[in-house]
Amino acid sequence: MRWPQRPKPRAGIALSTILLGISACERAGPSPPAGLLASPAAQQAGAALFAAHCAICHGANGEGRGRRREGLNPPPADLTLPPWSEIAEAGGTFRVIRNGVARTAMPAWPVLNDEQIWDLIAYLSSRKS
Ligand code: HEC
Repeated sequence: MRWPQRPKPRAGIALSTILLGISACERAGPSPPAGLLASPAAQQAGAALFAAHCAICHGANGEGRGRRREGLNPPPADLTLPPWSEIAEAGGTFRVIRNGVARTAMPAWPVLNDEQIWDLIAYLSSRKS
């Protein structure tokens, strides 16, 4: 009887992809297109994307209390807090959304293009209380 293939080779590929990714980007991540984060149109588009893709875990307002948070360890981050709410940290936030967080429920978002990720960050950083 043949056992199903072990996941090892795939883990190896994932690791080298991550290492390539790390060496390819600056630690601070990419810079947002000029003026985009302050654009009300981008902030609105980001709010709609957030409701569609992120609210289920992070909550309607991003405070970390979405319907699917139960049992997640670590729990979804509170995105109303720094550094995720800070424009100055936008490059790092971009990288997290693009790549996800390994070994957590936070997925990578290959379905979102760069502009959509910046729109999300425009929304997150527009909500200072
Ligand atoms: C399936 C649940 C889930 C979905 C959907 C999800 N997240 Fe997350 N997210 C998490 C979890 C869990 C963490 C905490 C990871 C950690 O503690 O390192 C997290 C963390 C984050 C962080 C902070 C990273 C960190 O190191 O803590 C950001 C920023 C973020 N998510 C943005 C988003 C955005 C934007 C979306 C929608 C495009 C999204 N997330 C969708 C579960 C989710």
